Amino acid sequence: MARLAGQVALVTGAGRGIGASLAQQLAAEGAQVVVNDLDAEPTQQTVDAIVAAGGKAVACPGNVTAGDFPKRFVGCALETFGGLHIIVNNAGYIWNGPLHKITDEQWDAIQDVHLKAPFRILREAFSYIRDQAATEAATQRRVQRKVVNISSISGTRGSAGQANYAAAKAGLVGLTKTLAKEWGRYSVNVNCVAFGFIETRLTQEIKGETAIAIEGRQHRVGLLAEGRAATVAQIPLGRVGTPREAAGGVLLLCLPEADYITGQVLEVSGGLTM
Ligand SMILES: NC(=O)c1ccc[n+]([C@@H]2O[C@H](COP(=O)([O-])OP(=O)(O)OC[C@H]3O[C@@H](n4cnc5c(N)ncnc54)[C@H](O)[C@@H]3O)[C@@H](O)[C@H]2O)c1
Repeated sequence: MARLAGQVALVTGAGRGIGASLAQQLAAEGAQVVVNDLDAEPTQQTVDAIVAAGGKAVACPGNVTAGDFPKRFVGCALETFGGLHIIVNNAGYIWNGPLHKITDEQWDAIQDVHLKAPFRILREAFSYIRDQAATEAATQRRVQRKVVNISSISGTRGSAGQANYAAAKAGLVGLTKTLAKEWGRYSVNVNCVAFGFIETRLTQEIKGETAIAIEGRQHRVGLLAEGRAATVAQIPLGRVGTPREAAGGVLLLCLPEADYITGQVLEVSGGLTM
């Protein structure tokens, strides 16, 4: 059953990991997906996987923090698929350190990608959503749109070594709860999903120099084997989550079954509370 048939979904950071899985799950439910990632090649790979499975998708590569990105992203959805129903703010990375070693650049970069970019994308989408909601209300055809902002249990619970990231992810909770109140009148559900420990490149086991490239910088990511084992030992379900399981938590909040759920933070963490 295609529960999202006729809907258009926008997903940032969907070239890899949880976002890539989510884009494919949304498409499998019938949504037409606008796939974004910083890196063009993985963006196209997600689009190709969706199309190969019989779905519809378009690539919109680019940095979510770029000044012109929100206009391009929303414009891509409207021009390619003629609508906009689901927005998932998922793109991001970590740039960890103890608070006393976090530079201004490091702080700002993490706020920009995790908090300011979602704010700017949602602000860009506002006028279309407001006007559509008015038209739909006038014709007795209410359409329940969905926003899901991706947070972390670092934001909801705190995490040593991630002051910049935790602050940005906690900020998303405030943004979510506020927008749920502002946009309820336009029939938009705004929720947050906070992940725990999910198996992606951000949490991979460190072997030698494990780094990812972001805007020309190299960021060390991953956990040492002992650190990973210690974290897994605290997860009530006893294992790391898969990207598919993490994306499943987001999908739930995009489905018609979630039409009366708004302003919530759903922790998808196997019970991990840090
Ligand atoms: N993996 C976890 O355990 C975990 C835990 C909590 C929260 N999260 C959050 O989940 C989201 C997805 O992370 P993931 O684990 O799938 O990581 P990932 O690195 O596998 O995927 C994230 C994607 O976002 C893209 N991206 C990064 N910066 C971008 C930018 N400026 N513009 C556009 N795209 C950008 C990357 O290129 C990458 O493909 C992130 O917001 C992350 O903070 C992950």
